[in-house]
Amino acid sequence: MTKAFDDKVVLVTGASRGIGKATALAFASQGASLVLAARSARRLDQVRNDIHDRGGEAISVPTDITSTEEVAALVDAAMTRYGRIDVLVNNAGIGHVGAADDPRFGTDLHDTLQASLFGAIRLTQQVLPILRRQQSGSIVNMSSVMGRKAFARFGGYAIVMHGVSAFTDALRQELAGTNIAVSVIHPALTATDLLREVDETQMPPPFRHMTPLSAEEVGEAVVKAVRRGTPRVILPRRAGLLLLGEAVSPRLGDLIASALTRRPLARLMGFSRGRTYHQTLAARTDTTPPDTTPRRSGHQLPTTSTR
Ligand SMILES: NC(=O)c1ccc[n+]([C@@H]2O[C@H](COP(=O)([O-])OP(=O)(O)OC[C@H]3O[C@@H](n4cnc5c(N)ncnc54)[C@H](OP(=O)(O)O)[C@@H]3O)[C@@H](O)[C@H]2O)c1
Repeated sequence: MTKAFDDKVVLVTGASRGIGKATALAFASQGASLVLAARSARRLDQVRNDIHDRGGEAISVPTDITSTEEVAALVDAAMTRYGRIDVLVNNAGIGHVGAADDPRFGTDLHDTLQASLFGAIRLTQQVLPILRRQQSGSIVNMSSVMGRKAFARFGGYAIVMHGVSAFTDALRQELAGTNIAVSVIHPALTATDLLREVDETQMPPPFRHMTPLSAEEVGEAVVKAVRRGTPRVILPRRAGLLLLGEAVSPRLGDLIASALTRRPLARLMGFSRGRTYHQTLAARTDTTPPDTTPRRSGHQLPTTSTR
């Protein structure tokens, strides 16, 4: 039986866990050959082995996307193995929580920019000439609902996610008519390790009662966006209400965000349907132990600050 991504090569960053891993597995189940990138070699190899065990094809290329040299080596490895790249998913990233007057705000913002925005820009600049030569391809950038509406104490992260969103919007227009599709994904809170270390009481207020999406839901949405060439995906769709409110007036956007901090209202709006983020993580059985193997370069582990 033919599958939608037979003979296609998909490069996913941040593929060692969470949304990136789920996205890689979703593409593999559709016949794609995967190039898996993240810093932790052991976790990446586990994902590659998972794909092989399911009859798929993948290589793992330990990469720190904050390093220009490592990004170049990643693209080289993909081209040496497969000779083409059809889909690039810029998903790797980190998240910090902290108010604007927190002394670490600037440092955290700098680190997040390096990993989540400049990493994507760096890799896109390396892959774009290949897609242009092939005269086809897709680029998917992972933003967040906060790439359209910031929440209190998540300003730094929201700045970066707005950047990812703006970069994607400009790129899509620059590539109009080239047969290279560009998509941006805006998921709401998702049950991954991104905010695992953040104490429940320190979470941005609208998140406290929110039932997170699963990484698999986001991964499937990425595959669908590439199949359909959808320019922008908001997950869940009801989060579009918040963004619509914000577009009409920041006061209305803030009002909806503040309504989400009350459980009955969050439930009424469909955002609180069961377990919260921390309850979901606590109930998870597939947690991977921390990777203690040395990284390829001296950059920091993704950290989430609890303040
Ligand atoms: N979880 C959410 O609520 C949510 C919502 C909306 C959007 N997002 C976005 O979705 C993306 C994926 O996050 P996630 O939720 O799946 O978080 P996660 O479970 O923490 O995964 C982050 C991934 O990025 C990789 N990574 C981090 N820094 C890197 C670097 N310098 N070089 C290469 N890889 C790096 C990590 O691998 P290594 O540590 O092995 O390098 C890991 O594979 C992020 O861009 C995030 O902003 C998340």
